[in-house]
Amino acid sequence: MTSSILVTGGTGTLGRLVTPLLRDTGHPVRVLSRHGRASEDGVEYIAADLLKGEGIEAAVDGAEIVLHLAGAAKGDDEATRNLVRAASRTGVRHLVYISVIGADRLPLGYPRAKLGAERAVADSGLPWTTLRAAQFHDLILTVMRGMAKLPVIPVPGGLRMQPVDTREVADRLVELTLGEPAGRVADLAGPKMYGLRELCGGYLRASGKRRPMVTLPVPGKAGRAFRAGANLALDGADVGRRTWEDFLAERVGGASH
Ligand SMILES: NC(=O)c1ccc[n+]([C@@H]2O[C@H](COP(=O)([O-])OP(=O)(O)OC[C@H]3O[C@@H](n4cnc5c(N)ncnc54)[C@H](OP(=O)(O)O)[C@@H]3O)[C@@H](O)[C@H]2O)c1
Repeated sequence: MTSSILVTGGTGTLGRLVTPLLRDTGHPVRVLSRHGRASEDGVEYIAADLLKGEGIEAAVDGAEIVLHLAGAAKGDDEATRNLVRAASRTGVRHLVYISVIGADRLPLGYPRAKLGAERAVADSGLPWTTLRAAQFHDLILTVMRGMAKLPVIPVPGGLRMQPVDTREVADRLVELTLGEPAGRVADLAGPKMYGLRELCGGYLRASGKRRPMVTLPVPGKAGRAFRAGANLALDGADVGRRTWEDFLAERVGGASH
């Protein structure tokens, strides 16, 4: 049976990978983002602003499954509440959400908003599934490229990460979206844990750049939470296969090992 699927944020880094995978399963796919455009490659694009609450009803109309990937640095809780309100009025039979590992443990605005969004999904009354993932390789690469523009790279001390390949997150989301509603599923992290200095060093080697790094302490509650590993996967998490080095070799080139 083919179900109509709405992918919010289907134009983003993760969404651009998930959308064609879902389309290729034969389900009609519609993408919601703030910038509509003509249908392309069998995918319909519709403009709606989840934060402003504009155009959501029309985007949700007729969708049986909603995969909610749209996100921003701020306001994911509010945006998700707006989406849930619209989805509750139609016949959505599965709402799938992507959150971040540590959403309930990190005292910072972004994870707190993701936690608020998770709660909106869980309290929606709709059948739901939520996956928490670690930071995507693509995000870390963007951050590293930005930092490498500085003459000296400031490296937050005590911060460890388990970056995950965005394609593996996309594959898992396709499986979850087409499966039965499962509530909170096992988190998905990358196969290795790195200090930020290691991640940065790998990027510099792969890109053939040389920069001094200086370790800076992260102060306050957030620093304590990061040093305690509040952003890291707990036991029982699913672990991806592709490492940061694999990703760098493919995307940046050069010897990253
Ligand atoms: N990046 C990571 O490391 C990471 C880790 C764990 C979880 N996540 C979560 O995964 C999701 C996707 O991340 P990503 O890195 O792919 O994000 P991204 O590249 O920044 O894409 C964000 C998407 O959301 C849409 N969007 C943003 N604000 C919107 C609004 N007000 N209304 C409607 N659409 C809006 C954007 O399209 P327009 O600009 O056209 O509106 C875009 O399609 C997010 O929910 C993020 O929190 C990310």
